Amino acid sequence: MVAAAPLTFALLSLPFVRAQTYSATYAPSSLPDQTEEGQSGTNKCGTSNHQDSMCQNVYMNGVDDFCFYAPPQPGANATIGDTERIEVSWCLKDGYGTRTIPPNTIQGAHFVQTPDYVQITGVGNLTQVNIPAGDSGGELDPHGADGNGNPIGGLVFSNAFTGQYVQVHEWTNYMSDTQFCFRACKDGANAPALCQHIYDEMGCAWNMPANYSSGVFERCEGDSGEPMGVYGTSTFSQGDPSTPPAHDPPASSACTTVPSIGVASLSGSSAPTSTGAPSGSASGSSRATSGSTGSAPSATGGSPSGAVSTFTSPGWTLQGLALFMTVLGGAWIAV
Ligand SMILES: *[C@@H]1O[C@H](CO)[C@@H](O)[C@H](O)[C@H]1NC(C)=O
Ligand SMILES: *[C@@H]1O[C@H](CO)[C@@H](O)[C@H](O)[C@H]1NC(C)=O
Ligand SMILES: *[C@@H]1O[C@H](CO)[C@@H](O)[C@H](O)[C@H]1NC(C)=O
Repeated sequence: MVAAAPLTFALLSLPFVRAQTYSATYAPSSLPDQTEEGQSGTNKCGTSNHQDSMCQNVYMNGVDDFCFYAPPQPGANATIGDTERIEVSWCLKDGYGTRTIPPNTIQGAHFVQTPDYVQITGVGNLTQVNIPAGDSGGELDPHGADGNGNPIGGLVFSNAFTGQYVQVHEWTNYMSDTQFCFRACKDGANAPALCQHIYDEMGCAWNMPANYSSGVFERCEGDSGEPMGVYGTSTFSQGDPSTPPAHDPPASSACTTVPSIGVASLSGSSAPTSTGAPSGSASGSSRATSGSTGSAPSATGGSPSGAVSTFTSPGWTLQGLALFMTVLGGAWIAV
């Protein structure tokens, strides 16, 4: 008991001692064309999605309102490893000026909000976002070899923490042909460790232990869990002779499922259905963070396009199970 007070004090002091500083902070409403040298795409994206968009802004707001990075072009050589510098943003919702994740791409998605980060994990047929079949994947983060991001100029925002958009400076995203995971860490002392980006060969399950089940779209509250690769006093280095197991998934609670996740209709597709609003109505959580009620990020943008259709989770079958097993067994290739 005697030692407890000073220890607590030391831990509480940590954020002030180790606060991160970042060279630039952007707001979605006033983004420049580009933010890093050598950028292939743009940050000034407008508010209308289109499938040749080169937008590189990701929004991580909720289970029905997230984006991830994937290749701009299809092709056998468009692996994540080969295209990491030029990935573009693909979002579930219209309104961000990105590409739209095509209907029926995402087969399961689990959004969790913890004190330190928001995270989406799931499975799908990600060949529909240009990842070549058989690509066991790679890792994307804001710390490429030359100091620029992978992709160069990628910016990540969330309105889940405060209801307002904030830029997230530390994030990590793994993509393969069948699985995705994206963690966006709230700025602060814990962000670099909880969004650690050095374990690029280890894949989603090891870096972001969580629920990857197919056939479920859910949002939960959760604990922050342990930093990747840190086991008590020892820290694993990728390539060490023995690889420690993944941490246990952190506890989660207050989960609410949504029967479907909204997908903005692609241009030329049919009129929106009315089979259920993909909006915040699905959230039973006390925390008003789903972001579904958030409007488009630009100052001029109103609510996301009214032309919203939905897809529902099909009855989950052997295909989904097989996909999940494949994912579990999948190996990851260094990028
Ligand atoms: C991919 O392959 C095609 C056809 O071989 C080639 O034209 C293209 O330049 C390649 N792209 C990249 C990024 O290597
Ligand atoms: C993934 O989607 C593509 C394009 O729609 C399709 O051809 C392919 O069969 C799908 N793969 C699986 C495993 O369902
Ligand atoms: C994942 O979530 C689904 C739906 O909430 C649940 O049925 C399943 O048990 C969870 N799996 C794990 C491993 O937690």
